[in-house]
Amino acid sequence: MVQPSHHVGTEIRRYRPEDEAFLFRLFEASNREAKRRNPDLSIPPGFAGRYLPKTIRSALGRNGFLRVAEVDGQPAGFILALTGKTAPWDQSRTRSCFVMELHVATRFRKQGVGRFLVESAEAHYRERGYDWISLGVFADNSGARQFYDRMGFGESYLFLGKKLRK
Ligand SMILES: CC(C)(COP(=O)(O)OP(=O)(O)OC[C@H]1O[C@@H](n2cnc3c(N)ncnc32)[C@H](O)[C@@H]1OP(=O)(O)O)[C@@H](O)C(=O)NCCC(=O)NCCS
Repeated sequence: MVQPSHHVGTEIRRYRPEDEAFLFRLFEASNREAKRRNPDLSIPPGFAGRYLPKTIRSALGRNGFLRVAEVDGQPAGFILALTGKTAPWDQSRTRSCFVMELHVATRFRKQGVGRFLVESAEAHYRERGYDWISLGVFADNSGARQFYDRMGFGESYLFLGKKLRK
């Protein structure tokens, strides 16, 4: 198995059903971070429960990619990527994949875990003939934007928005 150059104890493995609680915790913690950055953000109660299980099921289907990163045997992060009509603006690309979720637990950040997860997804899809990987990120998530910049992602489509009420 490929190891990241800067963290020897890190491994990427397939998702197991018992990882579900970890994925929920991490997803909800990231949502809280997003809400702290932007209190206007609407995250309806029970959102994780409605969204995650079905998204996990999709990722376990054909052409999905769901992996957990472990650092010294401890779950540290996960990535969930899909293919198909997940991003209409990418339809001009014949073979594209989309990162739906990428989360690294706070105490494992800045150790190369996120990079390892993204590079694993890239390698997975590249080997299967895919030619484009994309994702969405909140504009105010400057940490993740710097991360994706370091990973070589550039802007390809912008959502614009404006408040209709003060
Ligand atoms: C974004 C996130 C996945 C990054 O994971 P990570 O494991 O800390 O990233 P890595 O350690 O692999 O960093 C890879 C590179 O990005 C840089 N980077 C990572 N986080 C950064 C930050 N907050 N600010 C600036 N640079 C950052 C690293 O310094 C490293 O740079 P290098 O190429 O010079 O070594 C993680 O911060 C996270 O889970 N955030 C909350 C959830 C989230 O925002 N997900 C993405 C939303 S789409």
